[in-house]
Amino acid sequence: MSHLLLTGGRVVTSSGTSDADVLVRGGRIEAIGRLGDLPIAEAERVDVTGRLLLPGGVDVHTHIDSPMMGTTTSDDFETGTRAAACGGTTTLVDFAMQLPGQSLTNALAGHHAKAEGKAVVDYGFHMCVTDLYEGATGEFAEIVQSGVSSFKVFMAYRGSIMLHDGDLFEVLRTSGGLGGQVCVHAESGDVIDRLSADLVAAGRTGPGSHEISRPPSTEIEAVERAIKIARMADSPLYFVHLSTEGAVEAVAEARSKEWAIAGETCTHYLTLDRSLYDAPGFEAAKVVLTPPLRTQEHRDALWRGLRAGTLGVVSSDHCPFCLEEKRRLGSADFRAIPNGGPGVEHRFIVMYAEGVRAGRISLEKFVDLVAGAPARQFGLPSKGAITTGADADIVVLDPEGTTTITAETQNQRMDYTPYEGWTLPGAIESVYSRGELIARDGRYVGVAGRGRFLARTTQ
Ligand code: URP
Ligand code: ZN
Ligand code: ZN
Ligand code: ZN
Repeated sequence: MSHLLLTGGRVVTSSGTSDADVLVRGGRIEAIGRLGDLPIAEAERVDVTGRLLLPGGVDVHTHIDSPMMGTTTSDDFETGTRAAACGGTTTLVDFAMQLPGQSLTNALAGHHAKAEGKAVVDYGFHMCVTDLYEGATGEFAEIVQSGVSSFKVFMAYRGSIMLHDGDLFEVLRTSGGLGGQVCVHAESGDVIDRLSADLVAAGRTGPGSHEISRPPSTEIEAVERAIKIARMADSPLYFVHLSTEGAVEAVAEARSKEWAIAGETCTHYLTLDRSLYDAPGFEAAKVVLTPPLRTQEHRDALWRGLRAGTLGVVSSDHCPFCLEEKRRLGSADFRAIPNGGPGVEHRFIVMYAEGVRAGRISLEKFVDLVAGAPARQFGLPSKGAITTGADADIVVLDPEGTTTITAETQNQRMDYTPYEGWTLPGAIESVYSRGELIARDGRYVGVAGRGRFLARTTQ
């Protein structure tokens, strides 16, 4: 079996940094240390002097080839996972969406079929429960046994995919009994529906109204309510895409009581400002994503929450719709603009630049937020760390390099990026997945369809 030896790099894990060589064999990390002098004749040696060796990113919140608001996200498993790979992310946990009227097991089988043979990085699924028909929870055990050990529910999108409190309680109770996890999109769906209708009635139909219809209080109320319901159900709960200071406070309070409440935020809530909703014409539709972008005050609270460990994970919530598609559906009424934006390709480098290089978090904390913690949280023991025995998913990053983000050069199947023109410190040079070189200088160089489904464990 061939060996790969990365020599002269600086290895970063969630717990520390050291100058070490990394020996890879059979797709796994075989040894880490001063190995350069070892007589490994057959090893392919790659000199990575001056580079950081980081675990491949683990993004546990993506919507690939997913039905949403009357359309489908623009990336399929080929383009979406290639973009992930080019951006240093080697594992995804994607949402398998249930359409109303569809059985959960059918929906899951359909998502497997979309990914198989197309994905180029390893992937798992969360099961989205949007319609709790009679007998639905009876399918949970089989779903968990198949390696899909987490469920997702929406407290927003009233009238389509939103679950009411009793159904949320039932999902939490059943999942909790199986050792599974429930991911919750927390927003006051009923109130948002009313605020949105008021805006449209007043003639405020443009994309900027999206933000006004979803004030911070609508996230905070739903977070507080979901925590209470999780307590009633005696189940752990993971909040996706938290965006507000009040949500961070509510999660911190629950965690101080040692309740099993966890939270993530996303790249865009940490880096983009609400003023983008003031853009003229239909431009603001680019950031019609949910919850909306917030003010600096909220961003500061999110960064503090990450440093304190209140929020443990940073995901992309990659949910791409081309601007032309947003316009086609929602130019007359912001409520019909498909919600979401692209991000799987840029999460890693934006977090490195805005987190580490901007002095907000340490290198080890960065690695934990984008790789280590999401792998632990979602039962992926072979992922998220450069450690002996783990999958050799490794990002080689040149701290002296720079990255410029443009729609023109991105790999995501998208006609825009909210980070257009950003030039950031640090450049992802090469990306390995299970010891195979799959991306080089922002271009995919691996074989097609090489990604494997990851059956995840329960907690
Ligand atoms: O705007 C977003 N986040 N769209 C994707 C669906 C969701 O709410 O996660
Ligand atoms: Zn959501
Ligand atoms: Zn999402
Ligand atoms: Zn397009």
